[in-house]
Amino acid sequence: MSFTAPIQLPGLVLNPQWYRSAVFYEVMIRAFVDSKGDGAGDLTGLASKLDYLQWLGVDALWVPPFFTSPLKDGGYDVSDYKAILPEFGTVEEFRDLVTKVHERNMRIIMDLPLNHTSDQHDWFEQSRTDPDGPYGDFYVWSDTDEKFPNVRIIFTDYEDSNWAFDPVRRQFYFHRFFSHQPDLNYENPAVHAAIFDVVRFWLAMGVDGFRLDAIPYLYESEEGNGEGEPPTHDFIRALRSMVDDEFPGRVLIAEANQWPREVAAFLGTDEEPECHMAFDFPVMPRIFYSLRSQHAGELIQVLSETTDIPTGAGWAVFLRNHDELTLEMVSEEYRQAMYGWYAYDPRMRVNVGIRRRLAPLLDNSRSELELVHALLFSLEGSPFLYYGDEIGMGDNIWLPDRDSSRTPMQWTPDRNAGFSSADPGQLYLPVVQSLVYHYSHVNVEAQLAQSRSLLHWVRNVIHVRKAHPAFGLGSMHVLETDHESVLAFVRSHEGAVSHPSEPAEDILCVFSFAHNPISVTISAEQWADRTLTDVFGGERFPSVGADGLITLTLGTQSFYWLHLGHPTRRH
Ligand code: BGC
Repeated sequence: MSFTAPIQLPGLVLNPQWYRSAVFYEVMIRAFVDSKGDGAGDLTGLASKLDYLQWLGVDALWVPPFFTSPLKDGGYDVSDYKAILPEFGTVEEFRDLVTKVHERNMRIIMDLPLNHTSDQHDWFEQSRTDPDGPYGDFYVWSDTDEKFPNVRIIFTDYEDSNWAFDPVRRQFYFHRFFSHQPDLNYENPAVHAAIFDVVRFWLAMGVDGFRLDAIPYLYESEEGNGEGEPPTHDFIRALRSMVDDEFPGRVLIAEANQWPREVAAFLGTDEEPECHMAFDFPVMPRIFYSLRSQHAGELIQVLSETTDIPTGAGWAVFLRNHDELTLEMVSEEYRQAMYGWYAYDPRMRVNVGIRRRLAPLLDNSRSELELVHALLFSLEGSPFLYYGDEIGMGDNIWLPDRDSSRTPMQWTPDRNAGFSSADPGQLYLPVVQSLVYHYSHVNVEAQLAQSRSLLHWVRNVIHVRKAHPAFGLGSMHVLETDHESVLAFVRSHEGAVSHPSEPAEDILCVFSFAHNPISVTISAEQWADRTLTDVFGGERFPSVGADGLITLTLGTQSFYWLHLGHPTRRH
């Protein structure tokens, strides 16, 4: 396979706000390419596919944990923060990956599960065996399991308490997630120092930042619910300040599955910044809700709520990731509706969410896949793709927990989908062989050979997005419409004289969630008389009226991205 080299955008290399116009791609090392033939993906395998990712238009990789780990929670159970799991490779191979990523003017973000460790971490071993030793206070120990009564259980399918009894120390320890993942004790300054040390270790190796896993849960209190407690924010502020001082240009991304105002709090303020970006958990489930309800109202409401963030901060917009499609932040009524539409088989559910991949969720509907990707690439913030979704990969709901959507990447119709040369029985998870999503036809090679494939479509949209700085850097103004199924907004970028590659521009984005063709009138007073041109094909549409109204027809579940130009002067 050969790929044409993309044009490198001038200014991106040194731009400290590079993350605002970047396209991110979550890639699980274990699932991408097995270069050694042992049945699991590795660092060298990932490095061998950087040409593909660059061709696709990816600017930055987000790599879930690759630390030493017993892998009882996909690597989020770390047993040594400074060592790499041998099956993934060596520190040298990681350095080589970072170099190769940077040579392509791409970036690499790693995951940092800093709320908890594995119970096999040496810190925990020492904590349980030597309560008076240096690690005695590294975890949250208690003589009762009744502390922190307002803290909810997250893995509701697997745990019935946030406390577990340790027979060695003969005390209970607190765990927000699985009982094999004891929470670190952030009341202890030595824990801060240890985590800062880990952060410095990897930043010094050249990584471009971290996804801060489970960041709301660092501190607990008797009164609060243990989510975004004030000292948690103090810790993030201190971390940010260290990173800005010692490693400018590196980023912190918050994984905070919270309500809109709480998520925004993890970005801090202009005076006291916290993370550079935060995953847009409030928006994500509402995209899926709009698709089936044919109502854009909820999405419009949440988009209007979440826009007030500090200068330079950004949203990390996503559709799917390695976890379940969480329904924690929707009302009970909406949750039940979503289960009915998207998880009609109980096997499709886990905890408070849905453990399916994007294409199966959307019943492999091409128009829905295009609609949601068009949203992903035009909403305010930076888009995060999940590996395999660019080819519409399927899932395997017969696998346990979230493994359903962590199966090997499908590269070719050959053995093991081209992922590995191992005996098929040796793979860390089987490749998808279902009727609709079988790797014999859903694979990169086949989609490269079809010019109208989803892969080519996604790549094209990514490149169109990149040609318009308004998508990465512009503000978003949601417009009123007279149709409940329509979301319309304008992305506006003022442009910068010093950056001729970033001209001022306004782009009108219109999405119809209706299951039939519709006609809609949109109010865009601010843009009265402006011309409208389709950004994909260059076709001129009727201009915005002198009254600021625009009437459009849209086909079933479709969208427009229309450039708002200046009318030529009348004589
Ligand atoms: C990760 C999950 C993981 C959990 C506990 C999360 O937020 O995304 O995959 O299971 O942290 O470590």
